[in-house]
Amino acid sequence: MTDQLPTLYGGVVNRRVTPRDLQRAKDAGERWAMLTSYDMLSAGIFEAAGIPVLLVGDSAGNNVLGYSTTVPVTVDELLPMVRAVVRSTTRPLVVADLPFGSYQASPEQALATAVRFLKEGGAQAVKLEGGKRVAPAVELLVSAGAPVMGHVGLTPQSELVMGLRVQGRGEAADALIADALALEQAGAFAVVLEAVPADLAERVTKELTIPTVGIGAGPGCDAQVLVWTDMAGLTPGAPLTFVKRYADLRGVLAEATRAYADDVRGGRFPGPEHSFS
Ligand code: KIV
Repeated sequence: MTDQLPTLYGGVVNRRVTPRDLQRAKDAGERWAMLTSYDMLSAGIFEAAGIPVLLVGDSAGNNVLGYSTTVPVTVDELLPMVRAVVRSTTRPLVVADLPFGSYQASPEQALATAVRFLKEGGAQAVKLEGGKRVAPAVELLVSAGAPVMGHVGLTPQSELVMGLRVQGRGEAADALIADALALEQAGAFAVVLEAVPADLAERVTKELTIPTVGIGAGPGCDAQVLVWTDMAGLTPGAPLTFVKRYADLRGVLAEATRAYADDVRGGRFPGPEHSFS
């Protein structure tokens, strides 16, 4: 039955999307959108809107937890968010990000962390950052039964070393392609390309058989991902170049909050309709 489902959107009806569905989408030339999610309410909205893949990203660090980078985020901080997103959805593939320090020491450490996210969190896949260097970890995870999404280009967990700038320009392009290929060969089911020149991302997308998921990587990727608070305009300040704001949630929420406080100050809330007799 599931083998006959032709596409992601409208195709996967009563079960979660799988890495195999994403591969089929690439093979059929069908693009898809991924978003981050850290909680029940946003996850439910994104599922209802048809988003096939939700990433519980370590971007929770600067979107939920009040850190200025992703570096301090821990497994114990992310796990409850993964559980919330899994509990409140039935269709999207939920990918849990392995935070900094939870997988770099050895493939065995990576496996132990991935197992926690799959068993305790209920995620169906994990994501980790890095290319050739993490390929042995990817190989071990996949052989042990943990689906892995890779992440190359700008890898925010390394921002203390590499900064936050476009990666893969000039002579660095070949190394980035080699990193992406190493992840595919190690068994990753998809690779995020972050802050990579558009023509290079298109090249990688053509060279890989698995799907590429772009963020700041131009239109040539198989899929796109955005941090949901950026996409919906909840993040303060000017958006990054690669972000398109589809709403002004920050403005809407600020206005609602001011109206509520004014009503309380002016004695207009609660009214009789909000009171028990
Ligand atoms: O943590 C995150 O949100 C991410 C995406 C930007 C891909 O890694």
